[in-house]
Amino acid sequence: MSAAINNIEIQKAKTSKISSIDFDNLSFGKVFSDHMLLCVYKDGMWQLPKVVPYQPITLDPSSKIFHYGQSVFEGLKAYKDTDENIWLFRPEDNFRRLNISSKRLSIPELPEDYFMAGLKTLLQVDRDWIPKSEGSSLYIRPFVFASGNGFHASPADEYMFIIATAPSGSYFSGKLKVLIEQTYSRSANGGVGFAKAGGNYAGQFYPTQLAVEKGYQQVIWTDDTTHEYIEEAGAMNIFVRINDTLITAPISDRILDGITRRSILEIAKTENIPVEVRKISVKEVVEASKNGTLKEMFGAGTAAVISPIAAFGHEDKDYDLPTLENSYGALLKKRITDIQTNKSEDPFGWRVKV
Ligand code: PLP
Ligand code: COI
Repeated sequence: MSAAINNIEIQKAKTSKISSIDFDNLSFGKVFSDHMLLCVYKDGMWQLPKVVPYQPITLDPSSKIFHYGQSVFEGLKAYKDTDENIWLFRPEDNFRRLNISSKRLSIPELPEDYFMAGLKTLLQVDRDWIPKSEGSSLYIRPFVFASGNGFHASPADEYMFIIATAPSGSYFSGKLKVLIEQTYSRSANGGVGFAKAGGNYAGQFYPTQLAVEKGYQQVIWTDDTTHEYIEEAGAMNIFVRINDTLITAPISDRILDGITRRSILEIAKTENIPVEVRKISVKEVVEASKNGTLKEMFGAGTAAVISPIAAFGHEDKDYDLPTLENSYGALLKKRITDIQTNKSEDPFGWRVKV
């Protein structure tokens, strides 16, 4: 535990909701643990974080979050092993990315200790909320938003940083069918696509809803200029396997630099899986599907973990992916979740004990 933990005030909830939670049937992000971390930015600085009961917050109608969308977030998970130890996976990377996102949205960056010690304290207080069953974890949602007031279109002078947590199961249910988008764009050069900004997600909802109406669960975004190259999906990075080679698009200012993606690239090297980080054209993927060389597609992300894609749609036609005996996705998922849940060695030094 960090030394700064002593500085974090803890206000305990008077009662606990935990007995009402069915830990054997968890969905994703629908029930919340008893406490949250709360930290306020005012008078030009972040005030000390506190652990407080999970509760609604009161905001002025002129708070800039409502009007100008100054809001960024993160997603990570806490895992409990059979000996009741609590583990995080590369949490410093989430901290760094939160600040990268904040900077792009003109939100004041957080001190590392407020994030790390605050998170660890919260997890100690709510440790009973961390599920132990396979495939379940405590999903952690750190977020920062403009609570300061005023209709002037400029950065707010007050912000809130909150960490809320939700015991969760898998993000997707059923077979995952995705639509390769040809009309709308998620992000553009010079924009905020690389940031985990709330508005990036709001902007996806309408095109995704159109895809959902056609039977797809997610959209695979293509580049905004030509729509010829695959970038990422709404909530995960995308990997494609053609013959024996695993391919993913390079990070750019339009794509989120996923921590799962980065980890997969490193694990794949140690498994001697040939990997290419390069542009993937939609044409190449469609051709590979037609000639049988497209072996797998999967999404990778904290919520998604590694989610195999069963079929993709493109220009009113669906293309099924084969079911493989020796899938890279299944192997990589086992390797990464074994590290996350302390079932295997962690040669990369990614796991952090709380
Ligand atoms: N891309 C988008 C748009 C996401 O929302 C996410 C989820 O956080 C990812 C990719 C995967 O990132 P990570 O692996 O860090 O969770
Ligand atoms: C995550 O995987 O943590 C995310 O933030 C994706 C989100 C859309 C659920």
